[in-house]
Amino acid sequence: SFLQPADPWRPQYHYSPWANWMNDPNGMVYFNGEYHLMYQYFPGGQTWGPMHWGHAVSRDLMHWEHRPVALYPDEFGMIFSGSAVVDWRDSSGFFGGKPGLVAVFTHHAALPDTREVRQSQSLAYSADGGRTWVKHKGNPVLTEPSLPDFRDPKVFWHGPENRWIMLLAAGDHIRFYASPNLREWTYTGEFGRREGSHQGVWECPDVFPLPVEGQPGETRWVLLVSIGGAPEDEEGSRTQYFLGTFRDGCFHGGEPAETVRWLDAGRDHYAGVTWSDAPDNRRILLGWMSNWKYAAVTPAASFRGAMTLPRELSLYASGGEVRLRQLPVAEAAGLREETATWHRVQASPGTPFRPGFEAALLELSLEWDWAGEPGEAGVRLWTRDGQETRIGIDAQAGMLYIDRTVSGETGFHPAFPCRHETPLPPSASRPKLRIWADRISVEVFAGDGDPAMTDLIFPAPGPYWVEIYAVHTPVNIHTLELHRLRSTVAD
Ligand code: FRU
Repeated sequence: SFLQPADPWRPQYHYSPWANWMNDPNGMVYFNGEYHLMYQYFPGGQTWGPMHWGHAVSRDLMHWEHRPVALYPDEFGMIFSGSAVVDWRDSSGFFGGKPGLVAVFTHHAALPDTREVRQSQSLAYSADGGRTWVKHKGNPVLTEPSLPDFRDPKVFWHGPENRWIMLLAAGDHIRFYASPNLREWTYTGEFGRREGSHQGVWECPDVFPLPVEGQPGETRWVLLVSIGGAPEDEEGSRTQYFLGTFRDGCFHGGEPAETVRWLDAGRDHYAGVTWSDAPDNRRILLGWMSNWKYAAVTPAASFRGAMTLPRELSLYASGGEVRLRQLPVAEAAGLREETATWHRVQASPGTPFRPGFEAALLELSLEWDWAGEPGEAGVRLWTRDGQETRIGIDAQAGMLYIDRTVSGETGFHPAFPCRHETPLPPSASRPKLRIWADRISVEVFAGDGDPAMTDLIFPAPGPYWVEIYAVHTPVNIHTLELHRLRSTVAD
């Protein structure tokens, strides 16, 4: 493996680039036993610059091998976000009849000598399993010169219609195109001018079907749409999802236009999309753990930007409603190094439960019952006096929250120190929290993965001490499970 610069901010089991700037995950495809992860990358510095596609490969979604840059800017401009597919039947004709990988990305013309089309869609292909990439001679393959925002193509093979579908973001809506060969595209429809949240430019869409658990034969199509966030709103970048159907080459929503659902209600989960061709019909999501509001100024030494843990998505029915849930992929259990479990212990106001457990790389799972009226309780992760992150459930308000106001370094941007919350779905089951912490991030899941909240934090280097607190009502801790996790990077 590589000799990597020592860096106190480097996550130890999340993907981060070897050096320099990273944003969106791109070109995620599974082929020949390898998960490919490409990403928006600027090799020339630690802030956003002329975009390339960086590249990494993994067999287990946990250990990543850095690969050379896959795509460099060229005469059509920078390489913006996009996806990759396995062209199994060589529909593109790039592979002499064999299967191969095709990347579909946005060319963004903003370099001095680029040819004049602002955002257009282009192809690159790899006949050697992703080791080397060749740009298609006929680039770009799709332009819409009247649309200033026209980017982030996600492509998939739609079996029932026997054709490729491309969806991409056009400012305030998603556009759909179809193709027999990935080279020629015809418009098939659009979605979203009136639906969902429009507090920011639409970016990085993805669409896929998922079965509804416990309802045999029931399927919904899920459309993910990231929104850049307006300067005046507090939240900044975030991702919404829509549920509906897919027909005639287009997504059709099945809900009132004002419905807004968040994929992850934290501050640091953006541009999340899923792997193409993942085995066993798995639907695996990966997001960029940052927020355009402050992405350029987060504490950094050798690199800036990390990905979330890969998460498995599923749909479930709750109170007559279908909802999306997510948890880190099962492979994450392979990171567990040391486990400690407690049953039937108490935390009460003023007397938190202190298991005496400390870890910089931590997985936690907690279930409790209220000893009285439902109140407020949660997990305090503290690193040293005055530095703590609180993750809790306020049952009276029906909210899950993260409080990172005094989590460590917070002064680099006024929007960073905050306590923020998201509604819990109505449910009768006992409160449950699952948390993965990796030096500079917490990924939080309530219940069985709904809602999810992902936040960056920048505490002093060192382990987290765990504490379970109760605010008004004492709690009977049914189970507390703590795992120290192993590092998967060569530091
Ligand atoms: C989302 C995004 C995409 C674009 C890329 C540029 O974070 O703005 O819409 O393709 O980043 O780096």
